[in-house]
Amino acid sequence: MIFAMLLSAAVSGCDHKKALPPALTAKATGTAIVVVSGDKQLGSPGSQLPQPLILQINDDQGNSVTGAIVQLAGPPGVAFTPQQILTDDNGQATFKVIMGGINGRYELTASSQDAHGKTFSLTIPEFAAGYQQEVGYEVNQKYCSRCHNPDSTSEQVSNYDNLAVKPHRFSDGVIYNNISETDLTTIITHGGAAMNRSALMPPYGWTLNKAEIQGVIAYIRLISDPPYVAPGVVYQKH
Ligand code: HEC
Repeated sequence: MIFAMLLSAAVSGCDHKKALPPALTAKATGTAIVVVSGDKQLGSPGSQLPQPLILQINDDQGNSVTGAIVQLAGPPGVAFTPQQILTDDNGQATFKVIMGGINGRYELTASSQDAHGKTFSLTIPEFAAGYQQEVGYEVNQKYCSRCHNPDSTSEQVSNYDNLAVKPHRFSDGVIYNNISETDLTTIITHGGAAMNRSALMPPYGWTLNKAEIQGVIAYIRLISDPPYVAPGVVYQKH
């Protein structure tokens, strides 16, 4: 399984430049890029992400800037439409992202220039997931995220604040990368109490089948930040 592969423009070290369309001229400049929506999505390898990636350029007062240039770059295999664009009346730029063909974490880099021509940028993770990880994503949405994700959304109010013992985000690689697959399986199957942890972590052995538990572990490994490196796997440098 190669779900832990880190694919980033910086890491790949291949510095050949893709042919860019004719360069746009910025009508205005900002100082920061923020994500409006569409980061940390899960998509199928080789396919367009379900949602567009929407970025905003702000000035140093935090106001959105219209007519600033935004460009995207990514590891080999990822494609964007467009590759660069000027921000619209709301200071926003919308991109379609087509993922590369390999499962894993992809780090995209959005960049723009300030009034002095200095580049500022933002790293945006997206994920290409296989079937197992998609299963895990669904399990997380249905059962886990209400406690493990402190952020409330319009679809789901987080239960995190009500918990006396706080669980970690599944993306928290500092915690999760140090928990073995065996221990993850045990705590998910038998609950926190079985591992001398809080019983607020419920047992899922009756609710989830083996494939679903393996799926949620594969999903946790996929979204881990810093990235998870499977024991014994050697990554080729180039
Ligand atoms: C009702 C709230 C709740 C739900 C729902 C829940 N958890 Fe937890 N989980 C917890 C709490 C609280 C802890 C911390 C236990 C401790 O450290 O004593 C925890 C801890 C864990 C841990 C150990 C690492 C950590 O974050 O501290 C794993 C692994 C885990 N949960 C997996 C899952 C999975 C997978 C699901 C969904 C199938 C899930 N949990 C659903 C509350 C929950």
